Amino acid sequence: MAPPIISLRHVTKSYASGVSGRGRANVALDAIELDIPQGDIFGIIGASGAGKSTLVRLINLLERPDSGAIRVNGRDSGTVAGGELLKLRREIGMVFQHFNLLSAKTVAENVAFPLKLAGVRDKAQIAARVSELLGRVGLADHAAKYPRQLSGGQKQRVGIARALACRPPILLCDEATSALDPETTRSVLALLRELNRELGLTIVLITHEMDVVRQICHRVAVLDHGRIAETGAVEDVFLHPRHPATRALVRKAFGETDAHDRLGGGGHVVRLTFLGAATHSPLLSHLAREQGVEFAILGGKLGTIRDEPFAQLNVAFTGGDQRAALARLTAAGIVVDTLAEPANAAPPLARREFADVV
Ligand SMILES: Nc1ncnc2c1ncn2[C@@H]1O[C@H](COP(=O)(O)OP(=O)(O)O)[C@@H](O)[C@H]1O
Ligand SMILES: [Mg+2]
Repeated sequence: MAPPIISLRHVTKSYASGVSGRGRANVALDAIELDIPQGDIFGIIGASGAGKSTLVRLINLLERPDSGAIRVNGRDSGTVAGGELLKLRREIGMVFQHFNLLSAKTVAENVAFPLKLAGVRDKAQIAARVSELLGRVGLADHAAKYPRQLSGGQKQRVGIARALACRPPILLCDEATSALDPETTRSVLALLRELNRELGLTIVLITHEMDVVRQICHRVAVLDHGRIAETGAVEDVFLHPRHPATRALVRKAFGETDAHDRLGGGGHVVRLTFLGAATHSPLLSHLAREQGVEFAILGGKLGTIRDEPFAQLNVAFTGGDQRAALARLTAAGIVVDTLAEPANAAPPLARREFADVV
């Protein structure tokens, strides 16, 4: 993994609760440890109230933590102030849910705005940079339009161009696609992925939607009641969620598919996770032929993680040599999780033991 470009060490933030601010402190973030590798698309996901917006304001250095340390691009944010702090803030481009464009300014003027704020005076230089940025986000023909003349997806592309004007190494997107329909969301996420690949941009995506994380993130941290519930590669967290908060987010994205999980015909009931090329191999029909097992698919999920296909199927086996069949699956790199054992079976086999049977 690349070294972290953003790291949080034991970061805590509370707000005084109650209208008067005199009530008990309300802990928004509790002892957060987070490392965001340089060059990653890193998702931070959580339900409403989990602490996402608070985390955004700490990462973009608009607020300071009560305790703990935040490092951004090699600098300890606790030790910078004044002009240095402004400079460090400029290393993080911000993209917002509601775009936050200036309605009285054209697209080109919106994108030029941060350059002017940063003190760039040369008009030709600004014009060249704006046209380069608008080209990059696919809006070369819209420079003279006003925000009200654009679709939601186009407005967000302007927001992204504006965020990149000062060439920040980090782009922080706060619910950037939450106001967009699924098709527009896909195209904005595709643009973000392209920017990540082509510019080596680190992207931090704050979202409440597992589908957004699934489409483009490399790694993800799950925030729950102000704490990191779990963190890891998206494949692991999405396909094998451990924390109830993560399970709830996955279920929200895919619907309840597990209702008939354990209703087998008396044989092994397993959850099989296929990832990548294995998803398309006819493994189950091989097993039916070679081991004489029959199988029923009880439920499952199919889809892609970034561009990789996956399938997660709950399967009930009957007849044949089920142990040999499960061992074959494990040997082929399929993750086998046992949901139910045959009633009169020997003690459960651990995954490693399946492999030993081969
Ligand atoms: N400015 C604030 N004043 C008081 N409480 C706040 C403030 N901002 C957030 N909170 C509280 O902190 C918790 C986390 O909120 P927030 O960071 O907005 O979560 P999210 O963005 O995930 O919905 C909530 O309990 C919220 O009520
Ligand atoms: Mg929020």
